[in-house]
Amino acid sequence: MSRKKLKKKNFVPRQVEPRFSAPTADRHDLYQISVQDSKTTIDLIDNVIKTRRDGTALKLREDFCGTAIICADWVRSDPARTAVGVDIDRSTLDWGAKHNIETLDNDAARVELVVKDVKGSTGSDFDVIAALNFSYSEFHDRTQLVAYLKSARAALCDDGFLLLDLHGGPDAQFMLEAQRDMGDFKYVWEQESFDPINNRTVCHIHFHFHDGTRMERAFSYDWRLWSLPELRDAMVDAGFAKVETWWDDQDDVIRPLKSTVNTEAWIAYLVGWK
Ligand SMILES: C[S@@+](CC[C@H](N)C(=O)[O-])C[C@H]1O[C@@H](n2cnc3c(N)ncnc32)[C@H](O)[C@@H]1O
Repeated sequence: MSRKKLKKKNFVPRQVEPRFSAPTADRHDLYQISVQDSKTTIDLIDNVIKTRRDGTALKLREDFCGTAIICADWVRSDPARTAVGVDIDRSTLDWGAKHNIETLDNDAARVELVVKDVKGSTGSDFDVIAALNFSYSEFHDRTQLVAYLKSARAALCDDGFLLLDLHGGPDAQFMLEAQRDMGDFKYVWEQESFDPINNRTVCHIHFHFHDGTRMERAFSYDWRLWSLPELRDAMVDAGFAKVETWWDDQDDVIRPLKSTVNTEAWIAYLVGWK
């Protein structure tokens, strides 16, 4: 899709609240509204763990946690739950601590945020480690990817699992710009480039507002687009005993599948049991 197609011919700028205007908006706030859905993540974790044990998962590590909203909603969902969020970027974690964790009041004591590279070791005996929104894609090199997977596996309890998401389908390999109307603003996903020789893809998130202002490149990613079999094989090589594919058919049910048909764009999850 070309950028020009995003321009509406009859666009009339209107007054908006400061939260939804480029000079005053907060990119983390907009990201959380547009991209994150912790209820779906927590429901999925509950459904996955039920396939293996009677009790629920209690101890979560959220890798590449960003603003740690999953940590926050995890401890809020059950008074026995604890969460550790790991991210390399202190300023993003600080934002999460202020906006998502401190606001939990008493529940905040059950969340720990750690500024660290996820390839290092952080904690042990986690029921689940979730690394979402394709964040492992920052590892272009398989050795680095496997090192991360090994380190995550080592931090799981015996019947724990690692949860990764991935996106694919032919659309993931094209330069495109797609927008989603979030009501108060537009979320724009741009795939600037895709190189089929190394599967390197450079992508950006932009936000466009009803007053005509724009926050361009609020977030940028330099990723390797790992295919599902490549990622599964890397998990097996990292020592995971079993790797399952949970497929998101966009019908509100994410289910384990062994085979499916391709679509233009899809989302799936890999569950690696220790
Ligand atoms: C795509 S964002 C994902 C945020 C959040 N997990 C989500 O689901 O939307 C990627 C995050 O990973 C962090 N990050 C990138 N490389 C990392 C590394 N090696 N170790 C820890 N965090 C890293 C970045 O600072 C950023 O907050």
